[in-house]
Amino acid sequence: MKDLLKILFVTAECSPYAKTGGLGDVLGALPFYLNRLGHDTGIVMPLYSCIERKKFGIEIAVKDMNVPMGFETIICDVRRTILNGEIPVYMIEYEPFFGRKNIYHNDDFSDYQDNPKRFSFLSKAAFQLCKELGFSPDIIHANDWHTAISAAYLKRVYRDDPLFSNTAGVLTIHNLAYQGRYDRYYYGYTGLPEEDFTSDKFECYNAVNFLKGGIFFADMVNTVSPGYAMETRTSSGGFGLDTFLNDKGDNYTGILNGADYRDWDPQTDSLIPVNYTLNNIEGKAVCKKVLQQQFGLEQLKDTPVIGIISRLVEQKGFYLLRESIEDIIKNKNVQFAILGAGDNALESFFISLVQRYPGKTGSHIGYSNELAHLIEAGSDFFLMPSLYEPCGLSQIYSLKYGTLPIVRATGGLKDTVINYDQETGEGTGFVFHEASAMAIYNTVVWSLETFYYRKPHIERLIKQAMKQNFSWEKSAGEYAGLYLKALKSRI
Ligand code: ADP
Ligand code: GLC
Repeated sequence: MKDLLKILFVTAECSPYAKTGGLGDVLGALPFYLNRLGHDTGIVMPLYSCIERKKFGIEIAVKDMNVPMGFETIICDVRRTILNGEIPVYMIEYEPFFGRKNIYHNDDFSDYQDNPKRFSFLSKAAFQLCKELGFSPDIIHANDWHTAISAAYLKRVYRDDPLFSNTAGVLTIHNLAYQGRYDRYYYGYTGLPEEDFTSDKFECYNAVNFLKGGIFFADMVNTVSPGYAMETRTSSGGFGLDTFLNDKGDNYTGILNGADYRDWDPQTDSLIPVNYTLNNIEGKAVCKKVLQQQFGLEQLKDTPVIGIISRLVEQKGFYLLRESIEDIIKNKNVQFAILGAGDNALESFFISLVQRYPGKTGSHIGYSNELAHLIEAGSDFFLMPSLYEPCGLSQIYSLKYGTLPIVRATGGLKDTVINYDQETGEGTGFVFHEASAMAIYNTVVWSLETFYYRKPHIERLIKQAMKQNFSWEKSAGEYAGLYLKALKSRI
């Protein structure tokens, strides 16, 4: 079997073109690091109207491509750009599905109702594109429920096509909670055979579950940290799919995401006011000053700033934080800088918090990559009280920026942050276990008191954090191993 592979990623997000969270970051990095290992990668994604065509030099690649779906044949165009000067990114252009500003939802965060149609079309279009280009991939790599169905198309529709006769299907689960469960009507739309609408494959309480079907048909399935892989094999962390994941046996694993230090390194980051390094960290104080200015916080250099950058959703633990944050603000000398978008209830809460505690809290509701970098660089701590976390990238970036993560011991957070040992000063952050407002309160207070009263330990933690290395090189090597295993165990 050959070692250097042709890998085609199919995805709803890819940074820098379209991103709402870590999925975009992973797709913007992993293909590049696989290429470094000698593999040959390509990406298929939608051409959303938010993607800047001129900026990215997006050009027409295929005109009038036919994509047969269950109830209709769609005729679309495909455009192309090149990522990092070497990775072809094919963008499926079909206005009725993708000519929208947001990726998944309306402005009020309600999901687009036709998401199952949009993403099964995308997944099918990836195969039709290979046929147009005469491209024979070794691996089709699907990501999350949106494109999980690719694994089924491979086995059920394209199996006898010579282009795919040696192709294996891989599915990465970035978030098990989002499974793509819809009325069974949408299964009809996919065009897959009725015989696969069974409870071991796509059917789930008479509805279609896209992720579940993908898990069945993929030759290898992985999630994005070993810790989360273990949690998802249990009934408490499996979101109803633990049995199906366990059925995969050794063909379900965890590979920790990497951090793309080309973008997230305070030494080279072009989006922060001043660069700094482990040995010359003065610049961080300047970043803090600018952060305080931009978030309307009082200019107090000795007051610790806690940063938050997140999708504001249940998963991230902010409903618990909502119960404890005011006590923290009232009782402690601290500031919060919050960047996020999501649930209306949380957005309004953070807006009202700033009105009630101006100078101590600042928030930006919305999406801003520049502000995300500024928070990483300018904060003293980074808070991520997630209820569950498949991997989490923000805390990994925080480590590199010497911004000590305060996290709950779950999934990838547990795998990446080492709890502070107040006897020895070892560790890289502050970790708590219980999912409760009290645990958040206690741990934040613990980190603040360490900041006020144990400066040498804080300095040591910062150094240890900045020395951590979660580069993609290692994870990309593990993905290469996963692909070879997928080829060997092809169904
Ligand atoms: P998730 O994928 O669950 O959202 P991760 O920690 O894996 O969580 O990745 C989050 C990514 O999205 C990080 O790159 C973070 O900087 C970015 N991000 C999240 N919310 C925002 C926002 N409001 N503005 C800018 N970047 C954001
Ligand atoms: C998901 C998860 C997050 C992970 C990201 C990238 O959005 O919530 O934990 O880091 O995907 O894999």
